Amino acid sequence: MQTGNFTIMINKIKQLLSEVDNLKAANAEELEALRIKYLSKKGEISRLFDDFRNLDGDEKREIGKILNELKDKTRAKINELKDSSENTDSKESGPDLTRTAYPIPFGTRHPLSVVKNEICEIFARLGFSIAEGPEIEDDWHVFSSLNFADDHPARDMQDTFFIQQNPDVLLRTHTSSVQTRVMEKTQPPIRIICPGRVYRNEAISYRAHCFFHQVEALYIDKDVSFADLKQALLFFAKEMFGTDTKIRLRPSYFPFTEPSAEMDISCNLCGGKGCPFCKHTGWVEILGCGMVDPNVLDNCGIDSEIYSGYALGMGIERITNLKYQIKDLRLFSENDIRFLRQFESAY
Ligand code: DAH
Repeated sequence: MQTGNFTIMINKIKQLLSEVDNLKAANAEELEALRIKYLSKKGEISRLFDDFRNLDGDEKREIGKILNELKDKTRAKINELKDSSENTDSKESGPDLTRTAYPIPFGTRHPLSVVKNEICEIFARLGFSIAEGPEIEDDWHVFSSLNFADDHPARDMQDTFFIQQNPDVLLRTHTSSVQTRVMEKTQPPIRIICPGRVYRNEAISYRAHCFFHQVEALYIDKDVSFADLKQALLFFAKEMFGTDTKIRLRPSYFPFTEPSAEMDISCNLCGGKGCPFCKHTGWVEILGCGMVDPNVLDNCGIDSEIYSGYALGMGIERITNLKYQIKDLRLFSENDIRFLRQFESAY
């Protein structure tokens, strides 16, 4: 015959089995309270196991089975609640502040900015200060003031981007326009370096783009001579490309300088011995320069009888290509992170 104790136990186990089915915990504390209530040494199920020891053989067999069932079910339920509370906890309570820090990648300077800064710093050491001008310009500042004849091919539609068909509103094709803007407002001594973006209507390829960057330098004072220009150029070349660098000047023509020259440096890859990069000549061209044409000074309100000066202009892409051997100009404007990351150590 089954004892009263046996019946009480069966009822208790049945009650607990249905309770366990509906257990809920809103957070970790509530969950721990449930674990203590049911599964700890003094919890409901342990107490039932204590009573279980006093039962006789048949009763033990019957109760043992469902009591074990209750224990397993309760453990499984509490584990299930634990798993789901871990998931929701991390979603609701924001970032896990106990996680170890991971390195945050710093952005990098664009190679053109790195080289532009370096050029400006070198000229700053010679006393040049930075001047900037607008990218949307007029004919006077880009062409007429700089002695371009009315029929000069550089004004041609094929080169210049005009805005709204207006021949007097255009995107500057060179930073020489900043020379004019500064000379119109300032009397010598003038010693400026003008970095900036310029635009030309060119088909985009690995060696040409419809926009690129230039740095222009201008020095106007009394008695400025070609020797001063040459000295500044040599200083720049050695600072930029190393003290072994040699320069050579070839006669050239620009409307705004007379005489004009183009400067080559000894190839910085082969040291002047000749290699595919310098087409086996030992020299690579880097900039245009010359003595400011007296007409330009007069156009800008500076007395060419008293003052003289030199100017030079270079493409930043060209210098960057020489420094870092970047063969395809398009890489500069594609924002490809794999390309830009290579300049992490440059500043
Ligand atoms: N403005 C010229 C160009 O875009 C570059 C240049 C050549 C600038 C000679 C100068 C210079 O100041 O003297 O091609």
